[in-house]
Amino acid sequence: MRPGMMRVVPLQVITLDESHQVAHCNSNKGRDPASDAIKFSEPLANRTCVQPIFAFPRYYSLRMLRTRTMTSLSHISQQQLHSILTAGILAPSADNRHLFRYSILEDRVLMRTSDAYLRANAQTRLLGWISFGAVVENMHVQASAYAIATDVTWFPSKEVICEIRLRKGERQPDALLRAIPERHTNRRFFSGPRLSVPERSELEKQLPSSCGVSVVWLDSPPVRAKALRLIKLAEAERFRSRGLHAELFSSLRFDVGHNSSCEEGIPIGAAEVELPARPLFRLMRDWRTMRALNILRAYRFFGWRAAYLPARLSPHLALIRAQGDIRTAAIQAGRGFERLWLWANDKGLALQPLAAAALYARPEFEDVGVQVREELRRGWAALAPGGTPMMVFRLGYAGLPSVRAGRPPLSRFLSLAE
Ligand SMILES: Cc1cc2nc3c(=O)[nH]c(=O)nc-3n(C[C@H](O)[C@H](O)[C@H](O)COP(=O)(O)O)c2cc1C
Repeated sequence: MRPGMMRVVPLQVITLDESHQVAHCNSNKGRDPASDAIKFSEPLANRTCVQPIFAFPRYYSLRMLRTRTMTSLSHISQQQLHSILTAGILAPSADNRHLFRYSILEDRVLMRTSDAYLRANAQTRLLGWISFGAVVENMHVQASAYAIATDVTWFPSKEVICEIRLRKGERQPDALLRAIPERHTNRRFFSGPRLSVPERSELEKQLPSSCGVSVVWLDSPPVRAKALRLIKLAEAERFRSRGLHAELFSSLRFDVGHNSSCEEGIPIGAAEVELPARPLFRLMRDWRTMRALNILRAYRFFGWRAAYLPARLSPHLALIRAQGDIRTAAIQAGRGFERLWLWANDKGLALQPLAAAALYARPEFEDVGVQVREELRRGWAALAPGGTPMMVFRLGYAGLPSVRAGRPPLSRFLSLAE
């Protein structure tokens, strides 16, 4: 293999039962690669047991494990390592596309940039940083199950997102552990009751005090009215701007139908589009149709339906705000947001990020109209001064989503630096 080339690793598959014990192990031989996909238990409505399939690289398994690759990881079994890596993949990402690959080097896991990340524009990278924070947080929480601590060094070089040193830690499993395979995005309408004051402070406690991330509740009537205006303005922009429209519709997987999931992109069933609206929504994929509708300012209606109405009916609206330069703020916001999300789902709460409202105020989003960006910037500066608004979300109670987004198999994320 030439220097600098990556080798994709062949896999064995281990299925873990609910308590994360190995239930059965089968070899990769003669299997359909598609069946490696990380799966969720069926039916989805039964939320008690979500059973991820953890994939083990056979390449590492025997000879390599004992030799050069992972000699310093003697305190971690293969099963543990792979459940940590899989927990990372189960983290959320914008449009359900993770932009990293894993390499294992001595006592470290490297998260490397994927080709898609290297090709990406500033806005996709910014969304990626939030997601990388969530990935690392999931790995950190999963590692706690095995008394393993994580030391993370961010961006040590151009092609490495972070280096995660896995070392012996205290035996104190994180309470959020069981929520990792359960966490999901819910785009249904939410209802109450609202969280009590102690519940809200428990949610806030999920954010480590040192990370510079805070939650700003947008629930008092005057604040809520202003926040809803910003949410509507930003989401309407997705349908008004050609570039944002292209981005939105390229992430929606109409090809899988309304009842099935997919490994990458957002399965259209997860968008929870009502039956009568589906034919029009499908037609709106074509920019010419969208542009024609926009002569009648249809983008305003779609912004209202896609985000304003669900947000208006939701018992809680909140903003994640972070400190530091934009990359640090995004990563820390991703870590903190993931902790809140895990906590919320574990408590039976539904959550949907509404990323446009905060992020379209940023210059990285070049397709946002100048006036809209300025209105958002001013609006958030008044509502949540100090720090960078990173993520708006709604929170409440709802039925389970019709469809959940899947993930590619772990094998697709593994590469071995030669
Ligand atoms: C940075 C970021 C931005 C996101 N923005 C939105 C959004 O604006 N609207 C939405 O419905 N979901 C949003 N999501 C949720 C993703 O679409 C979701 O995490 C992904 O499709 C995987 O699905 P899952 O969360 O159910 O595992 C966002 C997630 C991340 C990490």
